[in-house]
Amino acid sequence: MQPSSIVTLDQVGMTYGNGVKALESISLTINRGEFAVLLGLSGAGKSTLLRTVNGLHAPTKGTIMVDGLGELFPGMGTQKRLRSHRQHTGMIFQHHQLLERHSALQNVLMGRLGYYSFWRSLFPLSEQDQRIALDCLERVGLIDKALTPVKALSGGQKQRVGIARALAQQPQLMLADEPIASLDPASSHKVLSLLRDICKADGIAALLSLHQVDFAREYGDRIIGLAHGHIIFDGPPAALRQHDLDQIYADQTNGPLPDLALADQTPQPT
Ligand SMILES: Nc1ncnc2c1ncn2[C@@H]1O[C@H](COP(=O)(O)OP(=O)(O)O)[C@@H](O)[C@H]1O
Ligand SMILES: [Mg+2]
Repeated sequence: MQPSSIVTLDQVGMTYGNGVKALESISLTINRGEFAVLLGLSGAGKSTLLRTVNGLHAPTKGTIMVDGLGELFPGMGTQKRLRSHRQHTGMIFQHHQLLERHSALQNVLMGRLGYYSFWRSLFPLSEQDQRIALDCLERVGLIDKALTPVKALSGGQKQRVGIARALAQQPQLMLADEPIASLDPASSHKVLSLLRDICKADGIAALLSLHQVDFAREYGDRIIGLAHGHIIFDGPPAALRQHDLDQIYADQTNGPLPDLALADQTPQPT
């Protein structure tokens, strides 16, 4: 592996148990400090790719190498390697996946749990963990909401708590699956610029999926276009041409996606 690489996928394929081939042959290296955006239609394989990079899916073909750990799957010590990899990988989700009735601080503290064994994690976290969590809330501009239940926060604020929780893991890699899909444009800009600034300041690599090409161009320093489980573009935003976008979004010009067309014809139960 190159010294700057964090994760390298080599000809990775992922087929689900039902036979759906979500990833075909993905070769990709995520480098330190880069902010990479995944673009692609629904069903292109973005979520599967993010989960595979995080080791939540074992590839059915090819290899995943992680800096400092070597090949993730399979073999002796896979569970230990996975635990270490996930501990250093922050995840941010479209629907934030926070505990709504708990405070922002309690949610951010969850980010520290990966550092402890199951039994230890049942006991109160240390003062140092509390300090790290408060620092993270401060960095996303929500220190004044530390004790507020998440359910009382706006969508953008919740997503910033999600960023703080991932940051509390002190990750080397941030993965984000459509982090702005439920937000209005102003909150989207706020969340993306915050995420990018924090990642750049801390040298954290980021891989995030987005639906909007304009946001991808504005914030990404690398764009990866996926279609049908293949990478069909990988380069800086300036190199992304209309021709590449036509390929990434090809199906959209051919009417409804096949699964939507099928859904329309499904007989209703009587
Ligand atoms: N848990 C699953 N089981 C079976 N098939 C799945 C599962 N998750 C996703 N898929 C299928 O894998 C393909 C890629 O899906 P996904 O990775 O969710 O794409 P995207 O995030 O780009 O919308 C799609 O055909 C989808 O239907
Ligand atoms: Mg998805």
